[in-house]
Amino acid sequence: MVGAIGFGGMPLSGFYGTADPAAAQQVLERALDSGVTLWDTAEVYGHGGNEELLAPLLHQHRDRITIATKFGINADGSIAAGPDEARCAVEGSLRRLGIDHIDLYYVHRIDPTIPIEDTVGALADLVADGKVGHLGLSEASAATLRRAHAVHPIAALQSEWSLWTRDLEPDVLPVARELGVAIVPYSPLGRGLLTADVPDTLEDGDHRRSSPRFTAQNIEHNLALAEVLGNFARERDCSAAQIALAWLLAQGDDVIPIPGTRSADRVRENADAVDVGLTAAEVEELGALMQGVAGARYARPHSYGDSPERNA
Ligand SMILES: NC(=O)c1ccc[n+]([C@@H]2O[C@H](COP(=O)([O-])OP(=O)(O)OC[C@H]3O[C@@H](n4cnc5c(N)ncnc54)[C@H](OP(=O)(O)O)[C@@H]3O)[C@@H](O)[C@H]2O)c1
Repeated sequence: MVGAIGFGGMPLSGFYGTADPAAAQQVLERALDSGVTLWDTAEVYGHGGNEELLAPLLHQHRDRITIATKFGINADGSIAAGPDEARCAVEGSLRRLGIDHIDLYYVHRIDPTIPIEDTVGALADLVADGKVGHLGLSEASAATLRRAHAVHPIAALQSEWSLWTRDLEPDVLPVARELGVAIVPYSPLGRGLLTADVPDTLEDGDHRRSSPRFTAQNIEHNLALAEVLGNFARERDCSAAQIALAWLLAQGDDVIPIPGTRSADRVRENADAVDVGLTAAEVEELGALMQGVAGARYARPHSYGDSPERNA
């Protein structure tokens, strides 16, 4: 059991503009104070530095925080997510996080060169050894999820899902629900674009520079779409981020979005989205209003997600 909204740690390591490690501790403290206790990180975020940022508070409040981390993406963005990598990576994550047990351990990307059964088999051994509590997959297809779940129960599927990224709904979502796998939507705020919170010029190291949705030819269109969401939010007297999160929360109790932010105030604002409460008609209306985002989710096809064919 975790709170309705979790915390995505990635922006604390400078993915979307400069991050300040001292301010990061305040953000994490505010998350705790706001009841946001599912914390999401990954080996690859900040080359391990993101896990280290979370470690001090995690150590102090181990019983209150559910820590989720991931393995399987190399520093250069290539995928290596087989049994050997799982066994090696878990030791590094445990060391950096300063704990002896990871609550939720994800395969960050499905490795097309290795049968998912082999990877999940190795992860099941880590569960048996007590190093990992629950298993998760990120960006898995319905077929891969099913095959993985047959080897060991999969507790959570973390994939991109938001008002304008709804690719998983037709195929993956029904299978997750059939198997009882919780859904953890990442980038629920469209990496800040859904809330129209994007600087005029993205900094050099900002990962959104390579995102097709942020290119010169697409951004104006997408900001205009974000403005539609902003207008809707103003009418409801709440923020665009809160509406975007409330829309996900309305999809079911098994949906736990993990918005990321470098701001303590926004952690609280995002947590308060649980009180927004959209009607079924509003959920429908928002879905209709927010269609037609310009640009693919990722520039590199291998980052785009698993497919049954690739992992056959
Ligand atoms: N499994 C995967 O492959 C994968 C991929 C991407 C992300 N993730 C995980 O999912 C988490 C969330 O996704 P994400 O960080 O990519 O994107 P996101 O949560 O959709 O958006 C984060 C951006 O939104 C801004 N923001 C946050 N709260 C806001 C608010 N209330 N109002 C206006 N703007 C707000 C943040 O800016 P400020 O920092 O300036 O507040 C940040 O730039 C990540 O942190 C990471 O843990 C996983």
